[in-house]
Amino acid sequence: VRKLIIDTDPGVDDTWAICLALRSPEVEVIGITSLFGNVRTKMATQNALYLMEKFGRPDIPVVEGSLTSIVGAEKERIADFVHGDDGFGNTNQPKPTLVAVEGKTAADFIVEKANEFPGQVTVVAMASATNVALALRQDPGIKHKLHEIIHLSGAFFVNGNVNPCAEANAFGDPEAADELYGSGARVTVIGLDVTQKLVTTARDMARMRARNHPHTNFLHDISQFYMQFHRDTVRQEGIFMHDPAALLLAFRKDLFRCKLGRVRVATEGLCRGQTIMDAGEKLWSFPNAWTENSRPPVEVALDVDVPGAMRVFR
Ligand code: BDR
Ligand code: CA
Repeated sequence: VRKLIIDTDPGVDDTWAICLALRSPEVEVIGITSLFGNVRTKMATQNALYLMEKFGRPDIPVVEGSLTSIVGAEKERIADFVHGDDGFGNTNQPKPTLVAVEGKTAADFIVEKANEFPGQVTVVAMASATNVALALRQDPGIKHKLHEIIHLSGAFFVNGNVNPCAEANAFGDPEAADELYGSGARVTVIGLDVTQKLVTTARDMARMRARNHPHTNFLHDISQFYMQFHRDTVRQEGIFMHDPAALLLAFRKDLFRCKLGRVRVATEGLCRGQTIMDAGEKLWSFPNAWTENSRPPVEVALDVDVPGAMRVFR
């Protein structure tokens, strides 16, 4: 059983992913760390606590992550127009009664667990790379102790979702993502190339609602605002399973096609947040800043068995 730390900004699709983790016997969630993105960090913490309460797992610790990006900047773009002001599609959920772990940051928690369970912990990072990059700065030795870091981030051979270049999690802290992908840790990046192939349709959702279970009712209700966002922007009667895809990768890698390559993240200018992969198919006649020959490769997910993945989600 793989031990998971879920680093998250709940968030509608984050909630689906957390639900998937808690329902999958292949993994054991040993902690949740929070970050800004869909909401600000403090709200992400409250939402994670609420989810542990809602899904009956008060035993899972929730640890608050960084309030700012790795260079100390206040988050510029909070995706309230995607996930609602509350991160739960404006459904007015009550306040959680659980409280977060005190006196510890998300980075402290990741370092602590990596050292406590060498070779056994996978971090599934479903927001920006800030907390994970901070943990690697704090104790670079954990790069050999973590089993894997999976980062939901980027758009390699498709357009982004913030702008044509950038996907939201990469855009949220490009400096942290570039640092993580160059760290030498065992990293797998999964971006929009794959996640946009996995769509829960309005029909799936109606079927789910018909089950009338409190958890599926909750997923259904919080997803209505997110569904409307998809209608308005990509004219689709269905929602992308971004974060659930990253979570699935932690225990069903057989469903994905991944490729090893060096990845850089643009940190400046018009293309800030763009993820660029050098898949190693071309022999560059001279070294250049993008490929930086010394940079260790990471795995990039490029395709998925769609029916296979959707079966697990259902
Ligand atoms: C990513 O951004 C957030 O909206 C989602 O939760 C996901 O992590 C998709 O670009
Ligand atoms: Ca997310």
